[in-house]
Amino acid sequence: MPDASDRRLIDWVDGHPVSRRFGDVYFSRGSGVAETRHVFLDGNNLRERWGRLAPLDQFCVGETGFGTGLNFACAWQLWDIVAPSTARLHFLSLERYPLSAPDIARTLGTWPELATYRDALLRQWGDFAPGWHRLVLANGRVLLTLVIGDVQGVLAQIDAVIDAWFLDGFAPAKNPDMWRPRVLASVARLSRPGGTCATYTVASAVRSALQAGGFAVEKRKGFGQKREMLRGTLVHAQPAPWRAPWLARPSRSHASRRAIVVGAGLAGTAAAASLARRGWSVVIVDRHATLAAEASGNPQGVLYARPSPHGTLLSELVAAGLQHTCRLLPELGLEDGADFAGCGVLQLAYDADEAARQEKLASLGWPCTLLRGLSRAEASARAGVELPVGGLFFPRAGWVRPPAICRSFGALPGIRQVLGREALALDRFDGSWTVADGLGPIASAPVVVIAGAGQSFSFAETRHLPHRLIRGQLTFVPETSASSALRTVLSGDGYVAPAREGRHSLGATHRFRASPTGLTAAEHAENLAKLARLSPALYAAVGGDRLDPTQLEGRAALRCSAPDYLPIVGPMVDAATFASIYAPLARDATLELEARSPWLEGLYVSTAHGSRGLVTAPLAGEILAAYLEDEPAPLPRAVMEAVHPSRFALRALVRRRAASG
Ligand SMILES: Cc1cc2nc3c(=O)[nH]c(=O)nc-3n(C[C@H](O)[C@H](O)[C@H](O)COP(=O)(O)OP(=O)(O)OC[C@H]3O[C@@H](n4cnc5c(N)ncnc54)[C@H](O)[C@@H]3O)c2cc1C
Ligand SMILES: C[S@@+](CC[C@H](N)C(=O)[O-])C[C@H]1O[C@@H](n2cnc3c(N)ncnc32)[C@H](O)[C@@H]1O
Repeated sequence: MPDASDRRLIDWVDGHPVSRRFGDVYFSRGSGVAETRHVFLDGNNLRERWGRLAPLDQFCVGETGFGTGLNFACAWQLWDIVAPSTARLHFLSLERYPLSAPDIARTLGTWPELATYRDALLRQWGDFAPGWHRLVLANGRVLLTLVIGDVQGVLAQIDAVIDAWFLDGFAPAKNPDMWRPRVLASVARLSRPGGTCATYTVASAVRSALQAGGFAVEKRKGFGQKREMLRGTLVHAQPAPWRAPWLARPSRSHASRRAIVVGAGLAGTAAAASLARRGWSVVIVDRHATLAAEASGNPQGVLYARPSPHGTLLSELVAAGLQHTCRLLPELGLEDGADFAGCGVLQLAYDADEAARQEKLASLGWPCTLLRGLSRAEASARAGVELPVGGLFFPRAGWVRPPAICRSFGALPGIRQVLGREALALDRFDGSWTVADGLGPIASAPVVVIAGAGQSFSFAETRHLPHRLIRGQLTFVPETSASSALRTVLSGDGYVAPAREGRHSLGATHRFRASPTGLTAAEHAENLAKLARLSPALYAAVGGDRLDPTQLEGRAALRCSAPDYLPIVGPMVDAATFASIYAPLARDATLELEARSPWLEGLYVSTAHGSRGLVTAPLAGEILAAYLEDEPAPLPRAVMEAVHPSRFALRALVRRRAASG
């Protein structure tokens, strides 16, 4: 067993990776590629199954143990050869001990024929925090959902239907956790009827657990020295455990892949992009003449989330979202320095509570390339300006120009923009929604996504969703030769970014029940005061005391938040019918009711992204696509439910019970 301070996972023995923790090889010493092809690809009959797919079909592989990514790279290669060019491969893989990029590069580097796949994977590979990671590869033709965590906990949170499993833990005697009956029962539960699994081991405990889950199991010739291997086909699917129908998925109702998205900010353009990547035709409607004219129109936004040390659902969401957006940026064709800068974000420990929170977070053992604590001196050196305190540094974060992201999303093939039209009414007739304004219909499609931030609730269908509007103002201050030393974003109860086009953005104020636009000197003064607390030296460097708040430039807009500060993303229901169908929950919230939720077929929302749209909106696009395409969810079930629009209707019922009791 390696020394605890030594984080290396691999020993290289004769050029082969061997796990130090498990004392086992990642793949056969002879030829890993040939073994993968024999055991997992042929074992699941993938060449033939993928060759039979129709255009735009999808196929989902589940894997226990991502390891070096060799199985993934081989599967992707075969997919490229035999699947239709518009079909989509989902690869959902679980891994407790993710390898470093150099280890993956070295391993996959053994096979020149995998170089394309290795390079594409490595472009998005970094150190991963525990949790869920969605990697969009080959323009969305291949989606990797990599879940970092222990197999048992993770399987319970997967919301997906798997077509073929690669069961690839280390040898059962060395890695029993990966082969426990509970794990294999979950594998069976998540499989499509007729779905398959394959593994190199024929251990009798594995065989019987797979059989108990409903797989018909057969032994086949093993690879190399191994005499036998196993393949299984799910012939007796076990009855699915009860799942709350109000938070389940609507069954897919649309015949064609056409959608209208109302709102061309981060939420709307991200939703459109996720659908367009899946071959949808999308019309984006916005009342302004340009994209990103409201909250998403700020010249600089901070790509930053404050994960909680207590592992809340919000924290899981923002940690996943932050990393997702960071991985997307290089793929969006943005200009480094003009549209974004991965300059890191320094979260200062500005008071005792924040210092305690940071200490806990730093002790969670996240990789130091994702997050590390810095002393005051280290933080000052990193920032390039003198700071009053140290804090937590997030090296991969930085600032982004939100309109650049919206434009990049909005320019994808398949997206048409209808600008300068305000959607005033929705009407559904004969399986199709029509979005109309005073002039008449704007567009019709089977699916509508409302992504209008605070205006999302002006429709009869959405009016019941609770939300609030919070005005925010940014202040722009000219860069000086002294302030140009700032090398990273500073964040505390406000933030300041390194200058873009000669000026720094200082942010941001929060005002409830305030006028949406128009700049106020009082809020400029507030932003300057926040800067003075973040760094008196930087405040002086921009000439803080000499700046006149009545003369400063800035930008104001409205944020939209839900009362629980989570975004609202998912399918809509008819609220009145919901309340009557599920009224018994008001008496007993533990009832396992079966009644199907009264979905408003084809109507979805992505809104209430609050102060974190850069972090949550792109991932929300993937959530919506998962609903609309019946794909694996990009997040754990609990987080999908936490952002579900029906959570409020459910809470209202339960509150009624509390009030009447
Ligand atoms: C001052 C300030 C600073 C911020 N700083 C950060 C930051 O540093 N980091 C971060 O991650 N987030 C930040 N945010 C939050 C972030 O800007 C938002 O979360 C994000 O922009 C929300 O995107 P959205 O698409 O939901 O909303 P918006 O960008 O407001 O877009 C909604 C769009 O819908 C359109 N629309 C609405 N109704 C209709 C209709 N009926 N018909 C047609 N069009 C309609 C609107 O015209 C608008 O274009 C900040 C916000 C503010 C105000
Ligand atoms: C044989 S290797 C997988 C090889 C991999 N499929 C490949 O293509 O390289 C087994 C993997 O399972 C992971 N693992 C072991 N125990 C685990 C657990 N309890 N939960 C999740 N992953 C685990 C190991 O870290 C290792 O990467």
